[in-house]
Amino acid sequence: MKIRPYQPKDFENCRDICLVTSSGFNTPEETKALWYMYCDYYLLYESDTCFIVANEKDEAIGYILCAKDYNTYKKQFKQHFSAPLRKVSLKHWLMHGISGLYMTAVARKYPAHLHIDIKPEGQRQGMGTKLVDALVAKLKESGVKGVHLGVGADNEKGVSFYKKYGFKEYKKGFGSIVFALDL
Ligand SMILES: CC(C)(COP(=O)(O)OP(=O)(O)OC[C@H]1O[C@@H](n2cnc3c(N)ncnc32)[C@H](O)[C@@H]1OP(=O)(O)O)[C@@H](O)C(=O)NCCC(=O)NCCS
Repeated sequence: MKIRPYQPKDFENCRDICLVTSSGFNTPEETKALWYMYCDYYLLYESDTCFIVANEKDEAIGYILCAKDYNTYKKQFKQHFSAPLRKVSLKHWLMHGISGLYMTAVARKYPAHLHIDIKPEGQRQGMGTKLVDALVAKLKESGVKGVHLGVGADNEKGVSFYKKYGFKEYKKGFGSIVFALDL
């Protein structure tokens, strides 16, 4: 396995990674909501801060996706994804809006926002750490001063991973934890 920048050919595999590593998105409408919220924006609008774990056939089996500035993300998301998301799932549209408000404070000091997912066959082999390393190097080069993310408080794997990497717990509540890393 290797880490490399995202390429447009990875789009469908990234959507598959997003679906395989999620839970609770079962219907076609929920699946589209998942992709709109957690995957497509980053690949289409900020692919320079997306990195891939590729297998021996150069197929994407993991990714780290990142918006460099959360406020810009919110504006662009509203313009391009808000209406489609609302159409497929009012519930997820509302949840996404609330999460946007919840992240506003952390984004002041830690502007970048990330998602990381690796399919089971690529996990626990150091690839997640290498993905964050690649993103951190790119963000530093771009002058970004900090990065944050939200994770389910019951996601033991994720929580343990972020702590081990050096992310600090910024806020906890509503079943989730916001982690932040100074760059
Ligand atoms: C969380 C995730 C990105 C970690 O990536 P990874 O490549 O498996 O992690 P690494 O191999 O780099 O592990 C680094 C450290 O994280 C912690 N960690 C990773 N997987 C863990 C697990 N299953 N249980 C407990 N700790 C774990 C360990 O401290 C590990 O260090 P160690 O192996 O020396 O003990 C990956 O497991 C994943 O995609 N999980 C499913 C989706 C998900 O939960 N994404 C995050 C949601 S916000």
